[in-house]
Amino acid sequence: MLLEKYPKEVKQILSKYPPEHKRSAVMPLLYLAQREEGYVNKAAMQDIAQLLDVTETEVASIVGFYTLYHDEKAGKYRMQVCTDLPCALRGADEFLNNLCANLGVKVGETTEDGLVTIESVMCLAACDKAPMFQTQGPDGIKYHENMTVDRTMELIEALKKVKE
Ligand code: FES
Repeated sequence: MLLEKYPKEVKQILSKYPPEHKRSAVMPLLYLAQREEGYVNKAAMQDIAQLLDVTETEVASIVGFYTLYHDEKAGKYRMQVCTDLPCALRGADEFLNNLCANLGVKVGETTEDGLVTIESVMCLAACDKAPMFQTQGPDGIKYHENMTVDRTMELIEALKKVKE
């Protein structure tokens, strides 16, 4: 239970919102729940729904909407390729397919070494710089724009050498 695990943090987060608006605490609570394992598991979503008097579906829909929340475990780095329409017009789908073929994974899968999970996401606000993706990992969030598969493979090779 989130409240039992992090009683101080949960109380601190809830104290920032008037009781009638406590549902607004959903984002920081999700962030807290995700901190440890890098994703929000079903039990944590249930806890948050209970704490805020909202439905689990509402909590899950927020996790599903934002690219910074995750409902599944992933590799050390998430590589989130934008395939929304403007990026698709600049070859994002082909880029994603070729990248997956090079890595031997499908969208949503993690490379065998556990390093990279490839995801397809909606607009990341760099529409004129596709193919583009963001990486989320121990070093935070980084944007990579006007990418090619070759340059992405070089990036992945560099990530392999990062010690953490
Ligand atoms: S559509 Fe891809 S960044 Fe906007």
